[in-house]
Amino acid sequence: MKALVLAGGTGSRLRPFTHTGAKQLLPIANKPVLFYALESLAAAGIREVGVVVGEYGREIRELTGDGDAFGLRIEYLRQNRPLGLAHAVRVARDFLGDDDFLLYLGDNYLQQGVTDFVRRTVADPAAARLLLTPVADPSAFGVAEIDAEGNVLRLEEKPDSPRSALALIGVYAFSPAVHEAVRAITPSARGELELTHAVQWMIEHGLRVRADTTTRPWRDTGSVDDLLEVNHHVLDGVEGLVEGKVDAHSTLVGRVRVAEGAIVRGSRVVGPVVIGAGAVVSNSSVGPYTSIGEDCRVEDSAIEHSVLLRGAQVEGVSRIESSLIGRSAVVRPAPRLPRAHQLVIGDYSKVYLTS
Ligand code: DAU
Repeated sequence: MKALVLAGGTGSRLRPFTHTGAKQLLPIANKPVLFYALESLAAAGIREVGVVVGEYGREIRELTGDGDAFGLRIEYLRQNRPLGLAHAVRVARDFLGDDDFLLYLGDNYLQQGVTDFVRRTVADPAAARLLLTPVADPSAFGVAEIDAEGNVLRLEEKPDSPRSALALIGVYAFSPAVHEAVRAITPSARGELELTHAVQWMIEHGLRVRADTTTRPWRDTGSVDDLLEVNHHVLDGVEGLVEGKVDAHSTLVGRVRVAEGAIVRGSRVVGPVVIGAGAVVSNSSVGPYTSIGEDCRVEDSAIEHSVLLRGAQVEGVSRIESSLIGRSAVVRPAPRLPRAHQLVIGDYSKVYLTS
């Protein structure tokens, strides 16, 4: 079985980060979201992976490589415009050939991985197999109706009035029958070729479409809140390990990872926290549930439940929480006079001020 990982798209809900990089490369506990997907495919015994990429293809390729580091063989497939998930399957037609394949949305995080799902796919062959989970607001997802035996009866993409609470998780298994379906459908109201519509087409043409339901942790990391929540969740499972330098005036409480080349001086760090290589934390209070990326600088500040991307600097800020701070971004107090906020922020940024 091959796998197809979708790492193109626009990521409009993660602007401004997606103006300058791929959303699938945003870090969870200092590791790109996409890497969790690739690791779980390797753990499930899959070897050949096609990664569909869009405008940030080069960045993804440079960081992910040929797959050797994951025990995979990765081929990159260019999708020139983000015309939908079913369009991405069309783009991958030659790579997929007539093999069965697992489709994994590269911004999804599944704690349980895909090993069980792959096992069930092999044990109970179908034209398509979906993974579902009950959610509070199904209208933000693909929504499935199933019968008591797990046969899928009907699917809708982001319906205004969902007929069930079962959302589609971004992991699907397909037989080659999907290729006719993705060719048959036309663009949705939002202008995309929806995979949900392709699977609905398969149902309407009498093909067997099965579903498994799970209640294990899963998140689409498509928004800042979801990303912070997944970061929180993954940090909960991180082991403490100090490979960098922590001076005698610092206190580490709980599980704290300090990467080689990172420095903690005169600070209190309450885990779970990860601090990346080359980062410097001084005279500050960090954590819990915080990831400090490589080469960041946190000085005379307090920060919790947040993610700092590579090279971000926070200096002299008394309290930051629930924040995602971009690469090489700088947060520091304004000079004393005039008493005003001075902002240099990019398009679609969000700043929440308390005064
Ligand atoms: O997360 C689960 C949901 O994912 C499902 O419940 C929905 O049925 C499914 O349509 C999808 O909805 P999203 O609106 O969240 O999809 P998004 O546009 O975020 O794309 C998912 C992934 O696929 C993401 O890594 C970007 C990539 N992508 C997306 C498009 C539209 C591509 O590679 N090419 C594309 O053309």
